[in-house]
Amino acid sequence: MNYNNILSENQNGITTITINRPTKLNALNKETIEELHNAFKAADEESSVKVIIITGSGEKAFVAGADISEFADFSVAQGERLASEGQAKLFDFVAHLSTPVIAAVNGFALGGGLELAMAAHFRIASDNAKMGLPEVSLGVIPGYGGTQRLPQLIGKGRAMELIMSAGMIDANLALQYGLVNHVTAPEGLMDFTQKIAGKIMRNSSVAIAAAIAAINAGYEDGENGFDEEITQFGKCFGTADFREGTQAFLEKRKPNFPGK
Ligand code: COA
Repeated sequence: MNYNNILSENQNGITTITINRPTKLNALNKETIEELHNAFKAADEESSVKVIIITGSGEKAFVAGADISEFADFSVAQGERLASEGQAKLFDFVAHLSTPVIAAVNGFALGGGLELAMAAHFRIASDNAKMGLPEVSLGVIPGYGGTQRLPQLIGKGRAMELIMSAGMIDANLALQYGLVNHVTAPEGLMDFTQKIAGKIMRNSSVAIAAAIAAINAGYEDGENGFDEEITQFGKCFGTADFREGTQAFLEKRKPNFPGK
Protein backbone atom coordinates (compact mmCIF):
# COMPACT_ATOMS: atom_id res chain seq x y z
CA MET A 1 0.00 0.00 0.00
CA ASN A 2 1.16 3.55 -0.72
CA TYR A 3 0.94 6.15 2.01
CA ASN A 4 1.54 9.92 2.05
CA ASN A 5 2.30 10.35 5.75
CA ILE A 6 3.68 7.07 7.03
CA LEU A 7 6.12 4.32 6.06
CA SER A 8 5.39 0.67 6.70
CA GLU A 9 8.09 -1.93 6.32
CA ASN A 10 8.08 -5.68 7.01
CA GLN A 11 11.28 -7.41 7.97
CA ASN A 12 11.77 -10.80 9.61
CA GLY A 13 8.29 -10.93 11.11
CA ILE A 14 8.37 -7.33 12.40
CA THR A 15 6.37 -4.54 10.80
CA THR A 16 7.78 -1.11 11.56
CA ILE A 17 5.33 1.72 11.01
CA THR A 18 7.01 5.15 10.94
CA ILE A 19 5.00 8.35 11.07
CA ASN A 20 6.70 10.47 8.46
CA ARG A 21 5.82 14.15 8.72
CA PRO A 22 9.05 15.34 10.35
CA THR A 23 8.58 19.00 9.36
CA LYS A 24 5.34 18.97 11.39
CA LEU A 25 6.96 16.91 14.16
CA ASN A 26 4.82 13.99 12.94
CA ALA A 27 1.59 15.63 14.13
CA LEU A 28 -1.43 13.40 13.58
CA ASN A 29 -3.72 14.89 10.96
CA LYS A 30 -6.84 13.10 9.73
CA GLU A 31 -5.12 11.48 6.77
CA THR A 32 -2.29 10.18 8.96
CA ILE A 33 -4.78 8.62 11.38
CA GLU A 34 -6.56 6.96 8.44
CA GLU A 35 -3.27 5.65 7.04
CA LEU A 36 -2.16 4.40 10.45
CA HIS A 37 -5.44 2.53 10.80
CA ASN A 38 -4.88 0.86 7.43
CA ALA A 39 -1.25 0.00 8.15
CA PHE A 40 -1.98 -1.46 11.60
CA LYS A 41 -4.90 -3.45 10.19
CA ALA A 42 -2.83 -4.82 7.31
CA ALA A 43 0.01 -5.83 9.65
CA ASP A 44 -2.36 -7.45 12.14
CA GLU A 45 -4.06 -9.47 9.39
CA GLU A 46 -0.76 -10.76 7.98
CA SER A 47 0.00 -13.97 9.87
CA SER A 48 3.77 -13.74 9.24
CA VAL A 49 3.87 -10.46 11.22
CA LYS A 50 4.55 -11.26 14.87
CA VAL A 51 5.29 -7.78 16.29
CA ILE A 52 4.46 -4.23 15.20
CA ILE A 53 6.75 -1.33 16.12
CA ILE A 54 5.43 2.22 15.86
CA THR A 55 7.87 5.13 15.77
CA GLY A 56 8.36 8.61 14.34
CA SER A 57 10.74 9.83 11.66
CA GLY A 58 13.47 12.35 12.36
CA GLU A 59 15.45 12.89 15.53
CA LYS A 60 13.13 15.29 17.24
CA ALA A 61 9.69 13.77 17.61
CA PHE A 62 7.74 10.58 17.97
CA VAL A 63 4.52 12.60 17.51
CA ALA A 64 4.00 16.18 18.78
CA GLY A 65 0.25 15.69 19.06
CA ALA A 66 -2.91 15.88 17.05
CA ASP A 67 -2.61 18.40 14.23
CA ILE A 68 -3.82 21.58 15.90
CA SER A 69 -4.32 23.34 12.56
CA GLU A 70 -7.09 20.87 11.68
CA PHE A 71 -9.39 21.36 14.67
CA ALA A 72 -8.85 24.97 15.79
CA ASP A 73 -12.27 26.07 14.46
CA PHE A 74 -14.30 22.95 15.35
CA SER A 75 -17.77 23.08 16.98
CA VAL A 76 -18.81 21.03 20.02
CA ALA A 77 -20.28 18.27 17.81
CA GLN A 78 -17.19 18.20 15.57
CA GLY A 79 -14.94 18.01 18.64
CA GLU A 80 -16.86 15.06 20.00
CA ARG A 81 -16.72 13.30 16.63
CA LEU A 82 -12.98 13.95 16.34
CA ALA A 83 -12.39 12.14 19.63
CA SER A 84 -14.81 9.27 19.06
CA GLU A 85 -13.67 8.56 15.50
CA GLY A 86 -9.99 8.83 16.46
CA GLN A 87 -10.42 6.47 19.38
CA ALA A 88 -12.28 3.91 17.28
CA LYS A 89 -9.99 4.14 14.27
CA LEU A 90 -6.61 4.29 15.92
CA PHE A 91 -6.21 4.38 19.67
CA ASP A 92 -8.68 1.69 20.82
CA PHE A 93 -7.99 -0.16 17.60
CA VAL A 94 -4.26 -0.41 18.41
CA ALA A 95 -4.85 -1.24 22.07
CA HIS A 96 -7.04 -4.20 21.05
CA LEU A 97 -4.90 -5.62 18.24
CA SER A 98 -3.95 -9.23 18.76
CA THR A 99 -0.44 -8.60 17.40
CA PRO A 100 1.85 -7.03 20.03
CA VAL A 101 2.49 -3.33 19.41
CA ILE A 102 5.60 -1.64 20.84
CA ALA A 103 5.99 2.14 20.72
CA ALA A 104 9.61 3.22 20.16
CA VAL A 105 9.38 6.78 21.46
CA ASN A 106 12.18 8.71 19.76
CA GLY A 107 11.58 12.30 20.90
CA PHE A 108 8.57 14.46 21.76
CA ALA A 109 5.45 12.36 22.48
CA LEU A 110 2.86 14.97 23.29
CA GLY A 111 -0.92 14.96 23.32
CA GLY A 112 -2.14 12.49 20.70
CA GLY A 113 1.47 11.30 20.38
CA LEU A 114 1.65 10.16 23.98
CA GLU A 115 -1.88 8.79 23.63
CA LEU A 116 -0.73 6.71 20.66
CA ALA A 117 2.30 5.48 22.61
CA MET A 118 0.01 4.60 25.52
CA ALA A 119 -2.39 2.74 23.23
CA ALA A 120 0.55 0.52 22.21
CA HIS A 121 1.02 -2.52 24.43
CA PHE A 122 4.22 -1.09 25.92
CA ARG A 123 6.80 1.63 25.34
CA ILE A 124 10.55 2.01 24.98
CA ALA A 125 12.02 5.53 24.88
CA SER A 126 15.23 7.16 23.76
CA ASP A 127 16.88 9.28 26.45
CA ASN A 128 15.97 12.49 24.59
CA ALA A 129 12.23 11.71 24.67
CA LYS A 130 9.85 14.13 26.34
CA MET A 131 6.29 13.12 27.18
CA GLY A 132 3.20 14.99 28.24
CA LEU A 133 -0.48 15.73 27.66
CA PRO A 134 -0.45 19.54 27.21
CA GLU A 135 -4.04 19.85 25.95
CA VAL A 136 -5.28 22.07 28.79
CA SER A 137 -2.76 24.68 27.64
CA LEU A 138 -4.88 24.83 24.46
CA GLY A 139 -8.19 24.95 26.31
CA VAL A 140 -9.09 21.34 25.62
CA ILE A 141 -8.47 17.95 27.28
CA PRO A 142 -6.88 14.77 25.95
CA GLY A 143 -9.48 13.14 23.69
CA TYR A 144 -7.75 10.02 22.41
CA GLY A 145 -7.88 8.03 25.65
CA GLY A 146 -5.26 10.01 27.57
CA THR A 147 -7.41 10.75 30.62
CA GLN A 148 -7.91 6.99 31.04
CA ARG A 149 -4.65 5.38 29.96
CA LEU A 150 -2.29 7.81 31.72
CA PRO A 151 -3.73 7.17 35.21
CA GLN A 152 -3.83 3.43 34.46
CA LEU A 153 -0.11 3.54 33.69
CA ILE A 154 1.31 6.02 36.20
CA GLY A 155 -1.40 6.39 38.87
CA LYS A 156 -4.16 8.93 39.36
CA GLY A 157 -2.26 11.61 41.28
CA ARG A 158 0.67 11.75 38.88
CA ALA A 159 -1.68 11.80 35.88
CA MET A 160 -3.73 14.60 37.45
CA GLU A 161 -0.59 16.67 37.96
CA LEU A 162 0.85 16.01 34.51
CA ILE A 163 -2.44 16.79 32.74
CA MET A 164 -3.31 19.84 34.88
CA SER A 165 0.15 21.36 34.59
CA ALA A 166 0.39 20.60 30.84
CA GLY A 167 3.96 19.66 31.71
CA MET A 168 6.46 17.33 30.12
CA ILE A 169 8.48 14.59 31.76
CA ASP A 170 11.77 13.28 30.46
CA ALA A 171 12.52 9.65 29.63
CA ASN A 172 14.10 8.88 32.99
CA LEU A 173 11.14 10.14 34.98
CA ALA A 174 8.84 8.27 32.58
CA LEU A 175 10.86 5.14 33.35
CA GLN A 176 10.56 5.76 37.08
CA TYR A 177 6.78 6.28 36.69
CA GLY A 178 6.41 3.06 34.66
CA LEU A 179 5.21 4.95 31.59
CA VAL A 180 8.04 3.42 29.56
CA ASN A 181 9.69 0.07 30.20
CA HIS A 182 13.22 0.91 29.05
CA VAL A 183 15.35 3.92 28.07
CA THR A 184 18.11 3.72 25.49
CA ALA A 185 20.48 6.06 23.68
CA PRO A 186 18.72 7.52 20.60
CA GLU A 187 20.95 5.60 18.18
CA GLY A 188 20.25 2.32 19.96
CA LEU A 189 16.47 2.65 20.21
CA MET A 190 15.43 0.63 17.17
CA ASP A 191 18.00 -2.15 17.75
CA PHE A 192 16.93 -2.49 21.36
CA THR A 193 13.23 -2.51 20.43
CA GLN A 194 13.86 -5.13 17.76
CA LYS A 195 15.70 -7.27 20.32
CA ILE A 196 12.67 -7.22 22.63
CA ALA A 197 10.47 -7.98 19.61
CA GLY A 198 12.74 -10.95 18.86
CA LYS A 199 12.16 -12.36 22.36
CA ILE A 200 8.39 -12.00 21.92
CA MET A 201 8.46 -13.71 18.53
CA ARG A 202 9.89 -16.91 19.97
CA ASN A 203 6.64 -17.50 21.81
CA SER A 204 3.19 -18.61 20.70
CA SER A 205 1.44 -15.79 18.84
CA VAL A 206 -1.99 -17.25 19.65
CA ALA A 207 -1.16 -17.40 23.35
CA ILE A 208 0.15 -13.83 23.20
CA ALA A 209 -3.11 -12.71 21.55
CA ALA A 210 -5.04 -14.46 24.34
CA ALA A 211 -2.89 -12.74 26.98
CA ILE A 212 -3.51 -9.32 25.39
CA ALA A 213 -7.27 -9.95 25.43
CA ALA A 214 -7.21 -11.07 29.08
CA ILE A 215 -5.02 -8.17 30.25
CA ASN A 216 -7.13 -5.62 28.35
CA ALA A 217 -10.36 -7.04 29.80
CA GLY A 218 -9.36 -5.89 33.27
CA TYR A 219 -9.43 -2.31 32.03
CA GLU A 220 -12.73 -2.48 30.14
CA ASP A 221 -15.98 -1.20 31.52
CA GLY A 222 -18.38 -4.01 32.36
CA GLU A 223 -15.87 -6.79 31.74
CA ASN A 224 -14.35 -9.06 34.32
CA GLY A 225 -10.66 -9.66 33.65
CA PHE A 226 -10.57 -12.84 35.72
CA ASP A 227 -13.50 -14.32 33.76
CA GLU A 228 -11.84 -13.36 30.48
CA GLU A 229 -8.63 -14.99 31.66
CA ILE A 230 -10.50 -18.26 32.32
CA THR A 231 -12.08 -18.14 28.84
CA GLN A 232 -8.81 -17.33 27.08
CA PHE A 233 -6.90 -19.89 29.15
CA GLY A 234 -9.38 -22.60 28.15
CA LYS A 235 -9.24 -21.59 24.48
CA CYS A 236 -5.47 -22.09 24.44
CA PHE A 237 -6.00 -25.82 25.09
CA GLY A 238 -7.64 -26.12 21.67
CA THR A 239 -4.71 -24.65 19.74
CA ALA A 240 -1.95 -26.30 17.75
CA ASP A 241 0.50 -23.93 19.48
CA PHE A 242 -0.41 -25.39 22.86
CA ARG A 243 0.09 -28.94 21.60
CA GLU A 244 3.46 -27.97 20.10
CA GLY A 245 4.60 -25.96 23.15
CA THR A 246 3.82 -28.67 25.68
CA GLN A 247 5.11 -31.48 23.41
CA ALA A 248 8.38 -29.62 22.78
CA PHE A 249 8.87 -29.14 26.51
CA LEU A 250 8.31 -32.85 27.18
CA GLU A 251 10.66 -33.80 24.34
CA LYS A 252 13.29 -31.33 25.61
CA ARG A 253 13.45 -29.40 22.35
CA LYS A 254 12.66 -25.86 21.23
CA PRO A 255 9.05 -25.36 20.07
CA ASN A 256 8.26 -24.55 16.49
CA PHE A 257 4.93 -22.80 16.87
CA PRO A 258 2.56 -22.99 13.89
CA GLY A 259 0.78 -19.82 15.13
CA LYS A 260 -2.61 -21.50 15.17
N1 COA B 1 -0.03 20.27 15.36
C1 COA B 1 0.28 20.92 14.22
N2 COA B 1 1.53 21.32 13.93
C2 COA B 1 2.50 21.07 14.85
C3 COA B 1 2.23 20.42 16.06
C4 COA B 1 0.90 20.01 16.31
N3 COA B 1 0.54 19.35 17.40
N4 COA B 1 3.38 20.35 16.77
C5 COA B 1 4.33 20.91 16.01
N5 COA B 1 3.81 21.37 14.87
C6 COA B 1 4.49 22.05 13.77
C7 COA B 1 4.76 23.52 14.10
O1 COA B 1 3.62 24.31 13.84
C8 COA B 1 5.91 23.81 13.17
O2 COA B 1 5.40 23.98 11.86
P1 COA B 1 5.93 25.21 10.93
O3 COA B 1 7.41 24.97 10.80
O4 COA B 1 5.18 25.03 9.67
O5 COA B 1 5.62 26.46 11.68
C9 COA B 1 6.70 22.52 13.16
O6 COA B 1 5.78 21.51 13.58
C10 COA B 1 7.88 22.51 14.11
O7 COA B 1 7.42 22.83 15.41
P2 COA B 1 8.05 24.02 16.32
O8 COA B 1 7.01 24.44 17.30
O9 COA B 1 8.63 25.07 15.45
O10 COA B 1 9.23 23.23 17.05
P3 COA B 1 9.90 23.58 18.45
O11 COA B 1 11.10 22.71 18.56
O12 COA B 1 10.05 25.04 18.62
O13 COA B 1 8.82 23.08 19.55
C11 COA B 1 7.20 21.56 20.52
C12 COA B 1 8.51 21.73 19.70
C13 COA B 1 6.83 20.10 20.50
C14 COA B 1 7.46 22.00 21.97
C15 COA B 1 6.10 22.43 19.90
O14 COA B 1 6.02 22.15 18.51
C16 COA B 1 4.72 22.22 20.48
O15 COA B 1 4.44 22.69 21.58
N6 COA B 1 3.83 21.52 19.72
C17 COA B 1 2.45 21.34 20.13
C18 COA B 1 2.36 20.31 21.23
C19 COA B 1 0.93 20.13 21.67
O16 COA B 1 0.32 21.01 22.24
N7 COA B 1 0.39 18.94 21.39
C20 COA B 1 -0.94 18.61 21.79
C21 COA B 1 -1.87 18.84 20.68
S1 COA B 1 -3.52 18.42 21.14
